[in-house]
Amino acid sequence: MDPASYNGRLNALESEGKVRWSSPSNIALTKYWGKHDNQLPRNPSISFTLSQAKTLSEVAFKPAQRPGEPSVSLFFEGKINEAFGQRIRGFLLKNKEVLPYIDAFDWSIRTENTFPHSSGIASSASAMSCLVMALVDIENQYLGADRSAEDQLKRASYLSRLASGSASRSVYPNCAEWGHCEGIEGSSDLFAIPGEDWLNEAFVGYHDDILIVSAEEKEVSSSLGHQMMATNAYRDIRYRQANENTIELKSVLQSGDLDRFIEITEGEALTLHALMMTSHPSFILMKPNSLEVIERIRNFRKESGVPICFTLDAGPNVHILYPDRFADVCRSFITSELQQFGSQLIEDHMGAGPERLEA
Ligand code: PMV
Repeated sequence: MDPASYNGRLNALESEGKVRWSSPSNIALTKYWGKHDNQLPRNPSISFTLSQAKTLSEVAFKPAQRPGEPSVSLFFEGKINEAFGQRIRGFLLKNKEVLPYIDAFDWSIRTENTFPHSSGIASSASAMSCLVMALVDIENQYLGADRSAEDQLKRASYLSRLASGSASRSVYPNCAEWGHCEGIEGSSDLFAIPGEDWLNEAFVGYHDDILIVSAEEKEVSSSLGHQMMATNAYRDIRYRQANENTIELKSVLQSGDLDRFIEITEGEALTLHALMMTSHPSFILMKPNSLEVIERIRNFRKESGVPICFTLDAGPNVHILYPDRFADVCRSFITSELQQFGSQLIEDHMGAGPERLEA
C-alpha cells in the first residue's frame, strides 16, 4: 500500500473520540544532515530508538464547529500553548491531501515529555511521531481505515517524516533506517524501515546515557542547519560518505563488530559538527565540556578496553553509548569521571517504540 494514501471510508464524520499514545526519541548513528523538497533527506541514516526519553500525547477529536476551518487546542504539560498549537495546525493543514479528514474535526491535543523541556534534548522526533501514531490509530479505530500493523507503521513513518525528518525513525522498535540507500532493500526517502532484525545480540538493549552539558536553546535550529548544507563545500563528499557508512553500519549491526561500530559512530558525530563548522555562516554547537567528555571517553576506552563510545546530536550534549553487558563498569566510570561536566544525566537505552495507552 502507498503509505501516503488515506484509504479510509470517512464514514464516521459525526463521531468523536480520543486516543493516547507514547512515542520515544531516537539517536542517529549515521546522521541525516541536509534535506530537499518536502522533507526528503540528502542521505540515508540509521538510528537506535530510545526508551526513557519520550512524549505522551492524548489526541481527541469532535466534529468541527466550522468545517474546513479546524481548531487545534494544544496543551503542553497541562497549559495551553498557542505557538505549538499553531505549528501543529500548520503541519496538519499543509498535509491535508494525505489527511483528508483533518478539517472535518476540531482537535484537542494534550502532550508532555518524560524528559525536562529545559534539558536541551530535541523533542520533535518523539512529539511528532507520537501525534502521528495517534492520528493513524484514529484512522483505524474511528474512520474506517483497515490497515495491517505493518502498513500502519509505514504510514506513521511517512507522516512523521513530513513533520520532522528524524521522527520518521521513531515509530520502529530498537533500530530504524531512513533514506534510499543502494544495498539496503526497501529503503526509501519517503519513510523509514525497521532495522530491528539486523541487530546482533551484542547490540540488544544498547545503552545511551545522555549527559546534558548545556540546556540552553540552540543558536541554530536543525532546519537552518539542513538548509546550509546546500552551500557547504563538502556536501557531495559527505553525502557519498554517509551512504557508505550507512551500508557498512548495517553489516556491523549484523556482525556485532563493536570496533567498527565505534569508528563509524564517533566519525559520524564529529563529521556532523565539522559540517556545521564549515557552513556559511559557520557555527559551533559543541561546548568545551563536550570535548572534555569526549576525550575522557576515548582515554577510558583505550586504557580499559571497554567498548564505550559517544555520539552527538545537533547540540552540545553527549550521548554515551555502551553494550548492556558492560553496564556496571560504564555506569561507575560515568558517575565518577563524566557526570561533573553536565547538569543532568538521562539514563536511556534502546526501546520498543511507540505504545498505545489507555485513553
Ligand atoms: O529531524 P530534524 O530536522 O530535527 O533533524 C535531525 C538532525 C540530526 O538530529 C542532527 C541527525 C539525525 O539524523 O537525527
